[in-house]
Amino acid sequence: MKVFINKRIPEIGIKMLEEAGLQITIPEDQNLSPDEWIKYCQDTDAVLNVGQNKYDKDFFEQCPNVKAIALFSVGFDAVNIEQANKRNIPVGNTPDVLSRATSDIAFLLMQSVSRRASYYFQKVKDDDWGNFDPLHALGQELYGKTLGVFGLGRIGFEMAEKCKKAFDMNIIYHNRNHNDEAEEKLGAKYVSFEELVSQSDVLSIHASFTEEHAELFNQSVFEKMKPNAIFVNTARGGFHNQVDLYNALVEKKIWGAGLDVTNPEPILHDDPILGLSNVCVLPHIGSATVEARNGMAKFAAENLIAFSKGEKMPHCANP
Ligand code: DGY
Repeated sequence: MKVFINKRIPEIGIKMLEEAGLQITIPEDQNLSPDEWIKYCQDTDAVLNVGQNKYDKDFFEQCPNVKAIALFSVGFDAVNIEQANKRNIPVGNTPDVLSRATSDIAFLLMQSVSRRASYYFQKVKDDDWGNFDPLHALGQELYGKTLGVFGLGRIGFEMAEKCKKAFDMNIIYHNRNHNDEAEEKLGAKYVSFEELVSQSDVLSIHASFTEEHAELFNQSVFEKMKPNAIFVNTARGGFHNQVDLYNALVEKKIWGAGLDVTNPEPILHDDPILGLSNVCVLPHIGSATVEARNGMAKFAAENLIAFSKGEKMPHCANP
């Protein structure tokens, strides 16, 4: 079985695929143009996809030989699952192995914003250490505050657990279903979306992205948040309207924002949000640890190996 991998992944995954006898192609050029990428996909049985290439109707029509897709990500919003299902194409993903790393980044962003790390880091870089000033640019502590989790799955649970342990935060959440484990272990309370928005001191997004969520966090939502609230998005940039977020930050409707994902992505170099001192932006590095990336490579390889043997992928996004 031929497998096309558009970017080099950790060796552990490559070795597993080779040992299973799969025929791997990895291009020299790690940044293929869309046309080059399609050409490779037209000549393969399976794709191991790194990054946000779109697997839509056009793709499936142009690449009829592709019989399986193994994503190097937990999120599968890049794939039109309905179209994949129509063609009986299994779509693998990499859940669990990156939950710790991604929730670490949400936790880091929350703390960076609460203690104004971006502002102070910039001052130091500008050779403006400043004198001790009891009133200048104070942060806010998180002890006993309320964390609101939008989407309490595996990553949301890890974030809630860290916040509980570190700061004894109250956990509220809004989700498709109740999360019994979080309610039992963390005392998490299920609330309506409106309650989540109006009661959270930190609102952190951990849901899977679908079009119905597009720019759910917009002006009308930011207006209902607390003025001390910190907005954290490590899920997908499409969840928030970035212009509305910028306005909410400038108008002090909310305290600050920590973003590992932006809308659009990559962020435009002249996006005014980058000029705000109450914002911390990272370039989508939630899973960027050795441990998480090795786990992702292993899961992606396991998915393709299972498929090559005619078995169900062990980590599959579509039934
Ligand atoms: C994921 O795994 O979904 C990460 O966001 C990388 O795309």
